[in-house]
Amino acid sequence: MLSATFIVVVVIVCIVTKSSYAYHFQRIITNRRSLQMIADGRVPLMGGNWKLNPTSTAAATSLASELAALTATTKGVDIVVFPPSPFLVPVNSVIQNSNVKLGGQNCYHENSGAYTGAISTCMLKDVGVQYVLCGHSERRTLFKDKDDGINKKIKKVLKDDLKAVLCIGETKDEYEAGLNQEVCAIQIMKDLKDITPEDMSNVIIAYEPVWAIGTGLVCPKEVAQDIHKYIRSLIEKKYGSEIARKIIIQYGGSVKPDNIKELMEMPDIDGALVGGASLTAQSFALIVNYNQ
Ligand code: 13P
Repeated sequence: MLSATFIVVVVIVCIVTKSSYAYHFQRIITNRRSLQMIADGRVPLMGGNWKLNPTSTAAATSLASELAALTATTKGVDIVVFPPSPFLVPVNSVIQNSNVKLGGQNCYHENSGAYTGAISTCMLKDVGVQYVLCGHSERRTLFKDKDDGINKKIKKVLKDDLKAVLCIGETKDEYEAGLNQEVCAIQIMKDLKDITPEDMSNVIIAYEPVWAIGTGLVCPKEVAQDIHKYIRSLIEKKYGSEIARKIIIQYGGSVKPDNIKELMEMPDIDGALVGGASLTAQSFALIVNYNQ
C-alpha cells in the first residue's frame, strides 16, 4: 500500500515538473507501441530532407531557427535536417544548443582529390554534419547513383563515424506488380554488402516508396507496416535479432502533420523522412511533436 502511494506521488511530481520520466510514463500508458520501442532501445527519428530548397541563406537560417524554437521542449524524438550543402554552415550556427541535428544530402566515397562537384564525408563532418543520406531515390533516378556506389558511400560514412540513412523503395510499376519486398531485399543486399554488425548501430533505413514521394499518395499504413516488418526481418536474417530490434526504420513519402500519427502507431515504423512538409517549420514541428 505504501509503495503504491509512493509510486503515485512520484508520478504526480514527474507530471507536474514535466520531467522526462513523466514523458515516458505518459507515452507508455497511452501507446503500447512506445513501450515496445523503449524496450528495444529505439528512439524515433524525424528527418527533414530539404532537397534543393530553399534558395537563400536567409530563408534557410530562418527555417532552421524557427524549427529549433518550435522543438525546444521536444523529448523522446531525434530530429535532423538535411539542408543543401551551401547552407550547412549557416544552418549549423543557428541550431547550436538546440534539439535539431545536421545532415548532409549526399557524399562521395573519397576524402579529397580531382573529383569536381563532389563533397566528402570529412568535409561534412568538419562543418557539423552527423547524418548522411545515401541512395535517395532522386539520386538513384536523376543522378544515376548505382547500388555499388551507394555501398561505397555508406562504408565511407560509417568509417568516418557518421550515421548513414540508407533510402530504399520501389517504383509505382514495381509496387503494382507486387514487387515491393523483392526490390527492398535487393537494395538492402547490395547497399549493405560487407557492412559489419558493429557498423549497423550507425545505419538507419528509410523506406520511401518512390510513387509516394512528392505525390500526396501515402502508402497505406498497413502496407507500410508490412514492408517495414519485412525489412526488419531481412536485417534479422543478416545481422541477428538484437540488431534488428534496435535498427531505426523510417517511412518517407508524402508525410504530413495529418498522417504522421497513424503511421507512428505502426509497431515497425520508427520515424519519418519528410520532404515537402519539412519546408515550413510549423508543419515539420507538428510532425516531430506527433506524440504531444
Ligand atoms: P515528400 O515528403 O515531399 O513526399 O518527400 C519525401 C522524401 O523524398 C524525403 O526524403
